[in-house]
Amino acid sequence: MNYKEKYGEYALITGGSSGIGKAIANELASKCLNLILVARREEELQQAAKEIKARHPVDVVCISADLLTDEGMQKVKDETEKHRVGLLVPAAGLEVNGTFEKNNLEKELRVIKLNVTVTMELTHYFLQKMVPRKKGGILLIASLSGHMPNPYFANYAGTKAYVLNFGASLYAELQPKGIDVTVLSPGLTNTPMTADNGIDWLKTPMQALPPEVVAQTAVYALGKKLIAIPGFKNKMIGAMAKHTPFQMASKMGKKMMDKAINPNKI
Ligand SMILES: NC(=O)c1ccc[n+]([C@@H]2O[C@H](COP(=O)([O-])OP(=O)(O)OC[C@H]3O[C@@H](n4cnc5c(N)ncnc54)[C@H](OP(=O)(O)O)[C@@H]3O)[C@@H](O)[C@H]2O)c1
Repeated sequence: MNYKEKYGEYALITGGSSGIGKAIANELASKCLNLILVARREEELQQAAKEIKARHPVDVVCISADLLTDEGMQKVKDETEKHRVGLLVPAAGLEVNGTFEKNNLEKELRVIKLNVTVTMELTHYFLQKMVPRKKGGILLIASLSGHMPNPYFANYAGTKAYVLNFGASLYAELQPKGIDVTVLSPGLTNTPMTADNGIDWLKTPMQALPPEVVAQTAVYALGKKLIAIPGFKNKMIGAMAKHTPFQMASKMGKKMMDKAINPNKI
């Protein structure tokens, strides 16, 4: 597939300076798409842009913006005006874990704002540009947590269930308009998000994948598949989730996480 022909000049990747977002940016650059990377920290953005440009002959635009603020969202809209964004990848995301009622409410609200509200608003905004052109793509980042109950990640899992259903619903709505929708549902991935979040992942059956593998699965699935789950083991977990009643899955999930979560968080 010629990604540039299919989607247009630029892919906009929020969270493009780290983890899964950065790996997707690299993968898209390898398909000759120019990039617009969004994140708060300027230095990390510039570093990511430098690394990508050293490997691929593409243009990389950096926008330093806090998407949790109105000013940050406006900055992204203003600064992308002069570029033809044909593919949107809202990868910036947050997670909070622990006993839900003990967690900080402000942090939980920020998780909903970044994972849900910002994802929805950017999708709405860029579809206004893509639909008249009759081409474009939206690559949403859910999680296996969106497919099943995830005790101690209750609010996070709820946001990812939103992203999964949002994307799956848009898929058929946008298909006749020439817009591809793919939802990436990674399992545990080696990124700064999971490096030091109070969970001893070695005490769970999960095996972390490198973000590069996750990114390859995502970009390959664009225009072909609605839901992309990277890794054989994660695919099996996703398939089992479809056939396990939520009541049972919730209890099994708690049992697994009880062994792995920092006891101070329970
Ligand atoms: N890692 C996993 O195991 C895993 C599994 C399933 C799904 N996911 C999902 O994958 C996505 C990426 O996660 P990751 O693990 O790659 O995380 P990460 O390495 O922590 O990267 C998060 C990115 O988002 C940016 N960001 C955070 N808050 C922002 C804000 N307010 N405004 C603008 N940018 C912001 C960060 O840059 P700044 O801090 O500089 O802003 C960074 O570039 C998330 O949606 C996550 O839920 C991750």
